[in-house]
Amino acid sequence: MKSILCLTLLLAAVPASGEAGGITRGPYLQLAAPDRITIVWRTDGPLKEAAVRFHPKAGDPAAALVSSGDAIRIRTGKSPSSPLKDASKDTVQYEATLSGLAPDTLYSYAIHDGETRLAVPEDLTLTFRTAPKPGTAKSTRLWVVGDSGTGALHQALVHEAMRRHTASTGKPMDLYLHVGDMAYSRGTDEQFQKNFFLPYETTLSHLVCWAAMGNHEGASSNGNKGVGPYFDAYVCPTNGEAGGLASGSESYYSFDHGNIHCIALNSYDLDRTPEGAMARWLEADLTQTREKGQARWLIAFWHHPPYSKGTHNSDTEKPLVEMREHIMPILERHGVDLVLAGHSHIYERSMLIHGAYATPSTADGVILDDGTGDPRDGGQPYQKSAGLVPANGTVSITTGHGGALGRKNIGIHPLMRSIVMDHGSTVIEIEGDTLTAYMLDLRGAERDRFAIVKGGVVTHTVVANPWMPDATTPQRTGEGVEGSPNGPAISTVTPLPIPASTPLIPRHSEWDYLAGGAEPETTAWTDLGFDPSGEEEAWKRGEAGFGYDDDDDRTVIADMEGNYTTLYIRREFTIPEGTDLKKIGLAIDYDDGFVVHLNGRRIFAQNVGIEKDGEVEVDSHSAGKPEYFSLKEHAAILRHGLNVIALEGHNTRIDSSDLTLDPWLLVED
Ligand SMILES: [Fe+2]
Repeated sequence: MKSILCLTLLLAAVPASGEAGGITRGPYLQLAAPDRITIVWRTDGPLKEAAVRFHPKAGDPAAALVSSGDAIRIRTGKSPSSPLKDASKDTVQYEATLSGLAPDTLYSYAIHDGETRLAVPEDLTLTFRTAPKPGTAKSTRLWVVGDSGTGALHQALVHEAMRRHTASTGKPMDLYLHVGDMAYSRGTDEQFQKNFFLPYETTLSHLVCWAAMGNHEGASSNGNKGVGPYFDAYVCPTNGEAGGLASGSESYYSFDHGNIHCIALNSYDLDRTPEGAMARWLEADLTQTREKGQARWLIAFWHHPPYSKGTHNSDTEKPLVEMREHIMPILERHGVDLVLAGHSHIYERSMLIHGAYATPSTADGVILDDGTGDPRDGGQPYQKSAGLVPANGTVSITTGHGGALGRKNIGIHPLMRSIVMDHGSTVIEIEGDTLTAYMLDLRGAERDRFAIVKGGVVTHTVVANPWMPDATTPQRTGEGVEGSPNGPAISTVTPLPIPASTPLIPRHSEWDYLAGGAEPETTAWTDLGFDPSGEEEAWKRGEAGFGYDDDDDRTVIADMEGNYTTLYIRREFTIPEGTDLKKIGLAIDYDDGFVVHLNGRRIFAQNVGIEKDGEVEVDSHSAGKPEYFSLKEHAAILRHGLNVIALEGHNTRIDSSDLTLDPWLLVED
């Protein structure tokens, strides 16, 4: 350990001008391989001596390795090569590549400016795991998300559902694949920040998101030139850094994770024909992969689905038609197992198919197994030959429901075994010779499941009269959810008793509030520095608590009963230097539910969820007994100095007889 320390302790000669900047994005992980990873973060001004300190978890914590100097690429809007496209002018992006790492090893890391640790409290650990060696059979879990980038509640609930699922099963995600449309509506730098980096912040610090560009990112980024906020956000392999063949482009690339070979393609603004550079690279990459013989599983992902009748039609829209007609044959010739896409705001999962390239799509002669693939409901998993065998069956999934959702599907695609119109994401688990995939909805309920088992030599006979989906196949929002048929996804957090403490925002302090039934125009009201006086809606100032009836309100909102259900309050506050950020918490007396935002991030909701038609649903709760919610888990969002907390207070019904929103902040003794 010590010898590596000496070799890598090359301190950066970074031009030092002005104060050390605060972290404005990240740190987040990119481009993980068995021996390397890239850590990216942004500051609002240059650091004097940017460095990443890291060490293997099992190793001696004192023997931290340092990556700095030449190992860190620094980019600004004025960089001579590859300047940041539309980031604010003070933004500096650091891309630190750590190399010489051990495969399949958990490391902890921290971002430093010289001796000063940035971003997170000293003892809050950030971690990453390097990829297993190519060819290694390793139990692997993938999270697949599409069309998530709204920045709104559904996106947050889908994310929370995944986090609860991994916590309850004790199996973390190893890979995060995003199939595009992660920053509505134009993929600007600011939209990336608000709709991707902030909502997924906790996940991105320890899990690499491997992305494919969607059309909404394509509004501000150019896939041919590789420039724009999308390409600034991601550091993708261009030179086979993570396995696979060098593509020379961040728009399409491949990587290995143990014995899984993954391929990301750009279906939006590149040539999709077999003669195009992308298809020729794909053919060569797959040929090389099979020649090497290390991969047992092949997964490809991109934005525009080859098969869909959700909110887009794969029979009539050119990018979808071309990905099917030109790209699917190449993939199937090399034995692809799974194809993942988004764009259509729905979940659609096919039967085991092969050779479905015709336009319009037909089930004739292309279905190899028309069963559910779900061993739990009496079905059989799909069977395939061991390894990557050509023309042995593919499952295609459209998973464009990670934030956006269609109200109505335009039709029933004949190749689909399962169709769900609800928000969610897809989880894939690969364990030895079995791949299992399931759709996890925003409540955390499983809505579809199938498995592929590989072994020996399997030959299929085309199913002559296959099972056909019909108008009864789609599950609508909330349908069939165990325990809560048609039920809402109510989010609740178990409160604690109020501890002995010192006030941080004392009870009955003054807050800015917005009542009268108006909604904030944008999410800016949750940000530090928001000026309520500059807004169209009439923000006022009053003492907490807010509400009506039940005689517990210092600021009475007299017009609320019978007229509207939501109230917004915000307050900036200062955390003194030396305060333990993990001891800060929210005490609150409330009726009925609330949503908390800290420094622009929505952090949790209590008694608030989404109803089946997309409306907010609130469970009832009576005030009178204040509760306590530790913010320990969110300490990384807090900082010494100025912060802001913003709350939405929600009533169950418009005619509810009372409302209470009486929060204060404290520091546990
Ligand atoms: Fe799209």
